[in-house]
Amino acid sequence: MKIKFPLIVGNWKMHKTALEAEEHIRRLKAVTVHSHVGIWIAPSFTSLFSASSAAKGSSIQIGAQNMSDLMAGALTGEVSAPMILEAGASFVILGHSERRKIFREDDFMINRKIKLALRSHLKVILCVGETLEEKNQNLTEKILKEQLEECLEDVTSNEADHVIIAYEPVWAIGSGLSPAPEMLEKIHYLCKTCLAKYWDLPIEKIKVLYGGSVNAMNAKDFLEIPDVDGLLIGGAALDLKSFVAIINEAEQLSKLEA
Ligand code: PGA
Repeated sequence: MKIKFPLIVGNWKMHKTALEAEEHIRRLKAVTVHSHVGIWIAPSFTSLFSASSAAKGSSIQIGAQNMSDLMAGALTGEVSAPMILEAGASFVILGHSERRKIFREDDFMINRKIKLALRSHLKVILCVGETLEEKNQNLTEKILKEQLEECLEDVTSNEADHVIIAYEPVWAIGSGLSPAPEMLEKIHYLCKTCLAKYWDLPIEKIKVLYGGSVNAMNAKDFLEIPDVDGLLIGGAALDLKSFVAIINEAEQLSKLEA
């Protein structure tokens, strides 16, 4: 199984206060001295500063779960790229299905956010994925292509290095369900070929993570699937023991490759 420098990302959603985040990152730092796994954590906005301070001196990267599509303005409740950068973020998750569904973000808004993030020197994790209804109507490929094309319009091949895709089928998030391995392999390959063609880049340059009900028991199975470059984890990232177990699985597989 080939997996080079797998990326394990924890999306904490609306969990953990700034103090809890600081404590958690301190403990994570103490138990993860791994050279072959990228560890990225996305806490809430209010925890960015304490989490990034706690991560100093380690390779753990801290990022935001969302960002405004404008640099500044009369936008009550919004948080801008310069604000999250200054709080210590090096990346931002954009297009998460919870943002799409609950906060009604569409591909065009996500596209504006992505361009702004990249031009602000933030790396981007772009989430894409079909709903159960779309899956049942055999629309998965069409939806994914549409999301990738619309969200990444005008993003140049020079910027592509700073974009990571996370395939997260909406029906698999927090549900305990997940796609069959052969389906996942096919979809990851599809995302990669679509973007390699779009940017005229070798396919190895495109990184695609899987997300949706990943836990310490099934992480290895996902990581062993060809073209899965890492994992985006919600629930299981909140518990230190589970998250570290997942990192250890990734470490084992990356050592096999090294
Ligand atoms: P989950 O969430 O691991 O709890 O399914 C994943 C996500 O929403 O990114």
